Amino acid sequence: MLCLGIESSCDDTGLAITCDGRLVDSILASQAPIHAIFGGVVPELASREHGRWLGPLFDALLKRNNITPTDLDLIAVTRGPGLLGSLLAGCAFAKGLALTLERPLIGVNHLHAHLLATGLDQNMAFPAIGMVVSGGHSEIYRMESPLNLVRMGRALDDAAGEVFDKVGNCLGLAYPAGRQLDNLAQNGRPIPGALPLPYIKNDNLDFSFSGLKTAAIELAKKLNLEKNQEKLNDFCATLNFAIARTLAIKAERALSNYPEISVLCLAGGVAANRALRQELANLMERRNGRLIAASPQFCMDNAAMIAYSGWLLAKAGFFHDLDCEAIPRGRKIPEDMRKGDPL
Ligand code: KG4
Ligand code: ZN
Repeated sequence: MLCLGIESSCDDTGLAITCDGRLVDSILASQAPIHAIFGGVVPELASREHGRWLGPLFDALLKRNNITPTDLDLIAVTRGPGLLGSLLAGCAFAKGLALTLERPLIGVNHLHAHLLATGLDQNMAFPAIGMVVSGGHSEIYRMESPLNLVRMGRALDDAAGEVFDKVGNCLGLAYPAGRQLDNLAQNGRPIPGALPLPYIKNDNLDFSFSGLKTAAIELAKKLNLEKNQEKLNDFCATLNFAIARTLAIKAERALSNYPEISVLCLAGGVAANRALRQELANLMERRNGRLIAASPQFCMDNAAMIAYSGWLLAKAGFFHDLDCEAIPRGRKIPEDMRKGDPL
């Protein structure tokens, strides 16, 4: 079964095709250079770019794989969370295709898709604790099955990726700065105690990174990093460590709350961070458990994860009608899937 996945929740326009849950091909237009001019995503520009790119990317993807539109069996699209205008562009395109090709439509939760994407190239195991960390979200889930993901914790203010991007901006790094900051950190050493591990003295699984963002910007100013590469590298390693250790503390807390769960799944753009991967690998080694971290190619926003998740849902008989709503960040995604015959 060929499933087309469409991703347009933020600033990447992505399309991908999976065949029975295996990736056939994917295509992506990144808007990063446009938003870099402004130091962050400009929602109006993002939705305009999605509108401009969806058609040509669809044509190019099908053409280079010798697939015609009528070969597609299912249309999967990100319905949220994300920027509303961006989501609307992808959803409108998906509904147009579903209607004209007379194929089923499925709206996919972007955050669930990040977590499930680990199943694209690795053996996923359930139950698992799932951690999705990106520019807009830092959340912890209990993953009972591919179709039953229960959120247990979330970012109360800034997400971890936002801290990397905004602090990176102050250092003069181009948006999105997480990867460059992580690269610089590889040649530095964390300065002990220089940055706080935020919001850990409680017993919940939520995150609050806004205080760390302010503290890091203040520390960067104090250290006068402009002309000292060594100090800059150490500063980046310090920020990497503070974020990675904070996330690891909450991951360990989630695992301790469910002693029967021995699998930790890590996904989202920040999952590419090397300090975070190392912290969580150490944690799972200590606990004799297993870390399933998304492959770097599936960490950042991509449409393969949408096609894959859509296929999982359709295989179980879940679909949407044309009234499937795009849901922006901050609004709960409704449980409004229609039950039909499994595809
Ligand atoms: O999942 P994603 O592509 O988009 C959102 O849904 O937000 O995540 C993008 C975020 C950005 O904040 C980017 O700076 C961050 O992921 N990121 C990283 C790394 N690679 C990407 N953050 C830290 N270390 C990295 N290696
Ligand atoms: Zn994402």
